Amino acid sequence: LENGVARTPPMGWNSWNTFGCNINETLIRGMADAIVNSGLRDLGYQYVVVDDCWFNPNRDSSGNLQGDPSRFPSGMKALGDYLHGKGLKFGIYEAPLDKTCGQYFGSYPGATGSGGHETQDARQFAAWGVDYLKYDWCSPTGSINDQVTVFSRMRDALAATGRPIVYSINPNSVHAKTGPQRNWGDVANLWRTTEDIQNMWNGGQANNYPMGVQNIVDVTVPLAGYAGPGHFNDPDMLEVGRGGGMNDTEMRSHFALWAMLAAPLLAGNDIRSMNAATTTILGNRNLIAIDQDSLGLQATQVSNDGTRRVLAKRLANGDVAVALFNQGGSTTTVSTTAAAIGKAGSSFTLLDAWTGAVNTTSGAISASVPAHGTVVYRVSGTGSSSPAAPSSTPPSSPPVS
Ligand code: DGJ
Repeated sequence: LENGVARTPPMGWNSWNTFGCNINETLIRGMADAIVNSGLRDLGYQYVVVDDCWFNPNRDSSGNLQGDPSRFPSGMKALGDYLHGKGLKFGIYEAPLDKTCGQYFGSYPGATGSGGHETQDARQFAAWGVDYLKYDWCSPTGSINDQVTVFSRMRDALAATGRPIVYSINPNSVHAKTGPQRNWGDVANLWRTTEDIQNMWNGGQANNYPMGVQNIVDVTVPLAGYAGPGHFNDPDMLEVGRGGGMNDTEMRSHFALWAMLAAPLLAGNDIRSMNAATTTILGNRNLIAIDQDSLGLQATQVSNDGTRRVLAKRLANGDVAVALFNQGGSTTTVSTTAAAIGKAGSSFTLLDAWTGAVNTTSGAISASVPAHGTVVYRVSGTGSSSPAAPSSTPPSSPPVS
């Protein structure tokens, strides 16, 4: 979407993965403080997104949305002011039909979706200082055939406010009964590619709940052609640092693969109590630079034999980032070549994004990679680079009738 924002994938934090409906202004402010104090803000994590369940279940007498007075007693504008005062940006959640997910699924009362109130609600968000709207299709009753029309309505309402607001839509979660894997780049800045991520490596199914990291990568890699500045695939929020579901290797892989996918990097852990391993993963400057590269390209697939998968992402300065991803259950060597990732020449340097080690090569690129691990090299060289050719073309948008 050409609305001037999200020229690179947005970075920040979202309340849902850890807190679900258990949110209030004290929590959000505390998280904002931790994002600043941990150094994450200065690494680029700037959007603080208040997900579902912030609502007063009733609109006011003029039909305006209101924050829940017991959870957000200072009001939503005050929260936005607080975030802005910290050098952060304010994100908020809404749904396009009559209810939000929390309301549909009974974890929260009321009916405050934006359906029929788009203009009024967009103005309200702008007045509160909202910088990012997550707009979540959540209706067991709404027809997914209406998604393009309905999502476009809020796009236009946001544009009419004149405030730059990142527009992030979810047409594809389980609550949407899985919408079309369409190219949404004319409708939104970000669109979810799958059902909700879970804190797990592999949910065992191709594109069905529950989705783990491996499953989401499988669905999102073929959509590379859709990504570019202002419009990115959204493989969902990060599970890094949530504990239990994945080991450190898998969490590192998760973060590395999201960077390769030019995904939004929205932390989903409790920043106030994160451990050193989590801080190191979320704070990896080499991977953040790959994610945030100004070309805004998503990695394309170079090879995949089912176990060893290689992805390459062309970068603005002529470098190419290459991911050597071991999908198997035991350590293996994953290999490619400079030529295969689109680098011409005979002398290259490889910067290991995790260790910072720099090595040289005349063309061979390989690493021993632990089970479910991903080694990422930033490949520089004197030769000219050409785009890494995708091994498959992205699926075309199915007609939405
Ligand atoms: C479904 C979305 O996919 C989640 O990310 C979250 O926003 C919930 N809805 C909130 O109800």
